Amino acid sequence: MLKLMNFEIRCTSCHKASFSILDFRCPSCGNPLDLCLGFNFEPGLVQLRNYSAWRYARFYPYVDAKDIITLGEGWIPLVRFSNNLYFKLDYLNPTGSFKDRGSTTLISAIHRLVKKHGGYVAEDSSGNAGASVAAYSTRAQLKAKIYVPENVSGPKISQIKSYGMPVVKVAGSRSQVAEKAQRAEEGRFYVGHIFHPFFRDGIRTLAYEIAEQFNWKTPERIYLPVSAGTLLLGVISGFRHLADSGTINNVPKIIACQTRQVSPLYHRIRKLKYKPPKKVTSVADALVSTNPPLLDLMTKELQEIRGDAEIVDEKEIVDAFTELAHKGFFVEPSSAVAYAAYQKQLRNKETPKTDKTVIVLTGHGLKTTLQPAS
Ligand SMILES: Cc1ncc(COP(=O)(O)O)c(C=O)c1O
Ligand SMILES: [Zn+2]
Repeated sequence: MLKLMNFEIRCTSCHKASFSILDFRCPSCGNPLDLCLGFNFEPGLVQLRNYSAWRYARFYPYVDAKDIITLGEGWIPLVRFSNNLYFKLDYLNPTGSFKDRGSTTLISAIHRLVKKHGGYVAEDSSGNAGASVAAYSTRAQLKAKIYVPENVSGPKISQIKSYGMPVVKVAGSRSQVAEKAQRAEEGRFYVGHIFHPFFRDGIRTLAYEIAEQFNWKTPERIYLPVSAGTLLLGVISGFRHLADSGTINNVPKIIACQTRQVSPLYHRIRKLKYKPPKKVTSVADALVSTNPPLLDLMTKELQEIRGDAEIVDEKEIVDAFTELAHKGFFVEPSSAVAYAAYQKQLRNKETPKTDKTVIVLTGHGLKTTLQPAS
């Protein structure tokens, strides 16, 4: 039983509270859960000598210091690329993607309880979250089973296996992969990162870091790739927390970047009808959620902060991937989607060059088999 003091876990739909840290969806209506924070952000409470995401430990009251499972994630460089354009190099996290921010809070919060029950954790992922949950599980001496779509990239599968965790390839859609991972089995605790509120909540640190690296002044715009929506929702939650606490003046304009093939959020925001392809074949192999369970929540949050959404074509993704690599930033094609969307908005004069802009580079180039064009 969880003691509710300065935070609560609540359903995003019926708003009932959940009292178990192992609940991954609302026990009453089945909708996604969310963390409600009942405390302010205070820059004076940042642990300045902790050079990881845990410098913000004071804002994670559900994790005891002795339970923290860390691989040194977070406190990632923010690099100036050109005049007003900055890259947040989140692909430099310990497993090569931003997902480590979510895995460190999720696994830190639950590992003792799962071990006490003699259980193991099950996760479904397009690859990166699976690798990340596998790494943090092994660090916590916890067993994990990772379910992935059959088109997952070779390097991602090898990475998961390298952490010593079994991988189950599932044919069919991304939703079918999730169904398999959620199936009830003796000792299994489903911790799917898309649903579990403690994963999404860890991504708040990305917003805190960007704000702190700009000395608590926010950039005008942030571009990030979106599939299931954990990155988008985590970043919005972090900026809203900072703004509600009076640490920053306003939430930046956040642009959710999607591939044309996988663009349910873009279509919803623009009030257009979305028809997903029969099979996703995009080079952006991490962006595969054609029917994301968090779509309603993403739409609501993005509209509330007056954010925007953009889509890009395959050629634009490959061009952006190649340009980034040729300038020294070797990221996976799914990450290049955000840069491609920024370039598109620049061309279409939908963003001024004068706006201070951050592009979140989410996954390492070593995770792809695609070669930059020569
Ligand atoms: C490299 C990379 N970028 C972006 C995303 C999108 O994140 P989300 O699914 O939270 O929207 C993913 C998700 O797998 C990813 O692996
Ligand atoms: Zn509910």
